Amino acid sequence: MSDDLTGSAQSLPRHIAVVMDGNGRWANKRYLPRVAGHKAGVNATRRIVENCAKAEIEALTIFAFSSENWNRPVEEVSSLMALFITTISAEVKKLNKKNVCVSFIGDRSRFSDKLQDSINESERLTKDNTGLHLNIAANYGGRWDVVNACKKLLVQVENDEISVQDIDEGSFSASMSLGDCPPPDLFIRTGGEQRISNFLIWQLAYTELYFVDTLWPDFSDEDFDTALQWFAGRQRRFGKTGQQITTELVQEKN
Ligand code: FPP
Repeated sequence: MSDDLTGSAQSLPRHIAVVMDGNGRWANKRYLPRVAGHKAGVNATRRIVENCAKAEIEALTIFAFSSENWNRPVEEVSSLMALFITTISAEVKKLNKKNVCVSFIGDRSRFSDKLQDSINESERLTKDNTGLHLNIAANYGGRWDVVNACKKLLVQVENDEISVQDIDEGSFSASMSLGDCPPPDLFIRTGGEQRISNFLIWQLAYTELYFVDTLWPDFSDEDFDTALQWFAGRQRRFGKTGQQITTELVQEKN
């Protein structure tokens, strides 16, 4: 995948990033334990993966567990860890058959050996797949990502592999998670909150932000289509004027 930031007329996003919010409230509304909401959330996750693959979107990045989610009640964290293990082992073979390449971003060292094994195995099994690139953010935080990139670059400077002058936006981006993906074109957050919550803070600089009240387990095929239609109506300017973009589009057509 290339890192084209110039984005001319583009009706379909190449890369979608999603904050899957609202599982707990979905469960509360039904007098169910919160984990039931997360389980229902897995079905919605499966749907969006299938929809992205069908629409031939290049990359989908989902926020499964933030570095701050460790602060949730211990029982919820344990249920989520168990759910990740069962979901990854149940889904990865199907994803592989669908030519999906699975990658995890975030600090996996805090996870149990069992979860780390299933993460590593899912990446190994699907690494040569050429279809949808599914990035799962787990124990991920945007600020962690920035600091991690700084550390990687500083080690390279210390080892005389690069000089300080070599550090620019391009080399910085390449040192971050998703360095091999174009930045997200469309960010979707369900559940009614309108914030980024320390997700991909560097990569979202020019992303179109779409917020919807629907709780994640209810996010349907129609909701996905609505988000794509909303995106198709956006004019992406990347700092230029609307007039410049219109002129460029006319020139491209001729
Ligand atoms: C946020 O809703 C959701 C999460 C922290 C977990 C999301 C995880 C999944 C959907 C499972 C996906 C599984 C894999 C393996 C990718 P919330 O609990 O904050 O909801 P609330 O705001 O209503 O409380």
